[in-house]
Amino acid sequence: MPLRELFKDKTIPETFQIKKHLCQDTYLINGELRPWKGLTTEIYSPILVAEENGEFKKKLLGTVPELGQKEALEALEAAKKAYNLGRGSWPTMRVSDRIDCMLRFVEIMKTKREEVVNLLMWEIGKPLGDSRKEFDRTIQYIYDTIEEYKEIDRSSARIQLSEGVYAQIRRGPLGVVLCMGPYNYPLNETFCLLIPALIMGNTAIFKPAKHGILLMHPLLEAFQEAFPKGVVNILYGRGRVVSTPIMKTGDIDVLSLIGTSTAANALQNLHPKQNRLRLVLGLEAKNPAIVMPDADLDLAVSECVLGSLSFNGQRCTALKLLFVHEAVVEEFNKRFVAKIAQLKYGLPWEEGVALTPLPEPGKPEYCQALIADAVAKGAKIINENGGTRNETFMFPAVLYPVNNAMNIYKEEQFGPVVPVIPFKDIEEPIRAISESNYGQQVSLFSTNPEILAQLIDPLVNQVCRVNINSQCQRGPDVYPFVGRKDSAVSTLSVNDALRSFSIRTLVAAKDNSLNKEILNELLDKQTSNFLNTHYIL
Ligand code: G3H
Repeated sequence: MPLRELFKDKTIPETFQIKKHLCQDTYLINGELRPWKGLTTEIYSPILVAEENGEFKKKLLGTVPELGQKEALEALEAAKKAYNLGRGSWPTMRVSDRIDCMLRFVEIMKTKREEVVNLLMWEIGKPLGDSRKEFDRTIQYIYDTIEEYKEIDRSSARIQLSEGVYAQIRRGPLGVVLCMGPYNYPLNETFCLLIPALIMGNTAIFKPAKHGILLMHPLLEAFQEAFPKGVVNILYGRGRVVSTPIMKTGDIDVLSLIGTSTAANALQNLHPKQNRLRLVLGLEAKNPAIVMPDADLDLAVSECVLGSLSFNGQRCTALKLLFVHEAVVEEFNKRFVAKIAQLKYGLPWEEGVALTPLPEPGKPEYCQALIADAVAKGAKIINENGGTRNETFMFPAVLYPVNNAMNIYKEEQFGPVVPVIPFKDIEEPIRAISESNYGQQVSLFSTNPEILAQLIDPLVNQVCRVNINSQCQRGPDVYPFVGRKDSAVSTLSVNDALRSFSIRTLVAAKDNSLNKEILNELLDKQTSNFLNTHYIL
């Protein structure tokens, strides 16, 4: 299929068609789906379809409310009221009751799979298989979080005695969380913040990602039905209009965001009481691969293709710099571009498709500017069709040889541009990693355990995950997902996220007969939800 026919002469399968605009005219605050009659934002797909006059245009999918400062502050008030300085019913509820709410939510969510998956494809161009995976992974994450929370609760269900002081130590909520997810995983990554935040007893204001907004529509009623009022409040609108006034109040206890360090810095700087503000941030990265002369080249090539181009390179964990030893770089490049030529491009529901249209307006232009800059400074596009564009789609460009004078060397491309940097001395990539502003992960390709050992030891202190002969990735979700420098603050994983959204808090009493009597009565009568030895199975 020639690239120019990407959008044309396509029959959209009946099941994936969107026949009428999805006009969301309500927003969830304080447990109410309030009607919205004000400004709205039109949501367009990156997929172009024929209009009545035969012209191809980005498909209009629907509209969402464009809320203002007033609604933002109402959402904050609702979340504060539900938290009620830690005295609200949600933060003081028995763990088993909060789990019941979460289970109710996930049961309703499961019935919305088809709708959400379809919107993932239309809104962000994610291939069908990956869209389904994103939904299913999120459901699994919620169940795993519930099990992990029970485990944490069970291990806290005992009274300790140390140096003559009894104590029960648990993890308690932090307060009101402002939660914002990214467009590349608008469901999964947003929920990987929101779900642990809620289950730990915090209340939340959650702002959907800049793309992948409509897909929250099928879930609004689930949020409304499953959680007590004010526990989850959903804000639609521009960050500057809705997030800024909320942060300026100083009433936010946790800023949880997957996005850019610039956005995170700007928001946290608005908070007048910074010691009160906990940060849970997943930010940008520039993960490198290092291909050593003794690497299994076929394996390195297939992992580097996956690592750099899954979802068109729009992953924070994507391989964004490929350092390849000069002894093997010619052969690596040859095999690498051959493999990329085999990648199928098309619309998200097409069988076996790997490359799809890009949701961010201006992204193809940005990628083309990176390519032009590199070419002007001496790199070449070494693959056929590299950088060729059709509207919102750009075929991946492999650039070689790339050096540190080029913008692509420093900027996070978050798109289908793959820079290959030849190196002679291993100190070159190691220095690049040490000097980088980012420190998330690295992939090492070698068959020699001794060479790997020499690289692993310095690199684990520069990044937070060293992958051997494997691409960089977040999963499995039980492993810590974290980064250094401008790549992250706090750790996420099924277990770590529960810790990130909570604080250790304890009830303590000196060992004397009065206190013993009191503790015994409290435990017998189970009058406190915190101080009790109840064991959830
Ligand atoms: O965008 C960053 C994601 O956390 C990457 O997750 O490695 O599972 O694609 P992934």
